[in-house]
Amino acid sequence: MKVDVALVPAAGRGTRMRPATNAIPKALLTVVDRPSIQWVVEEAARAGVTEVVVVVDPDGGAIIERHFDESRFLPGLSGVKVRAVIQEEAKGLGHAVLAGREAIGLRPFFVMLADDLVRPGEELLSHLARAADLDTSVVYVRRLPDGMLGAKGVVVPGSGLSDSVMEIEGAVEKPGAGAPSNYAIHGRYLFVPEVFDHLTGVAPGYGGEIQLTDAVDSLARAGRCRAYVADVELLDVGNPLGYLRANTVLGLADPAYRDAYRSIVDDLLVE
Ligand code: G1P
Repeated sequence: MKVDVALVPAAGRGTRMRPATNAIPKALLTVVDRPSIQWVVEEAARAGVTEVVVVVDPDGGAIIERHFDESRFLPGLSGVKVRAVIQEEAKGLGHAVLAGREAIGLRPFFVMLADDLVRPGEELLSHLARAADLDTSVVYVRRLPDGMLGAKGVVVPGSGLSDSVMEIEGAVEKPGAGAPSNYAIHGRYLFVPEVFDHLTGVAPGYGGEIQLTDAVDSLARAGRCRAYVADVELLDVGNPLGYLRANTVLGLADPAYRDAYRSIVDDLLVE
């Protein structure tokens, strides 16, 4: 399936990153040498996406658009249009995706969670696009140990279609003990536009919020959702330790900094 638009929910207030996020949207915090959201937009561009819809809170839109307007400082991103859509109230991830409905229209689209970064050599979006049938949605799942299933959406596995693609029959947000499987949803999705109808029918769920996982559940129960299974780690920049780790992992992976940065880290570790 060809997918040329991505939706990036980035309206979170970044409470786990206070005070860094007192005045700055979390998505603009620097990871290595660019804002975290730029890593996400670059990943989208590598998969052939030409338009990125960023869902922001009422204060965040102008500054994020301004960053991407400065295209002379963004080599490789000149063919990608980034536009902001406002989510008026923070009512959950599903609600944020629904805020992008008009901007997405009737196109299939990726959802990319802004807190979750991939290493530049790793591709998930192209695999999601290959896993999709003409009109099915696909979620990226990775196996996690039992103790970590309380922090993720978890799918009910259905029949396998290949080594890495399976049908799913349902999904549960942050089930913890009693989870239906160890296949946890990680922050990359491919949706066909019917997901918006499913989201409209979703009642507040886990944490009193409109959960994207509940729309995945609704799609899956209708036989219209698959999972792409892989073991690609997403780097979580939404909390201070994950943020530090992501800076180190991506800094050590960047040819411009790798060698010098490695010797800095090595020196620090022997002290
Ligand atoms: C969100 C989703 C969850 C998903 C996770 C992926 O949770 O609600 O289903 O598994 O992202 O990282 P959050 O991490 O925002 O609490």
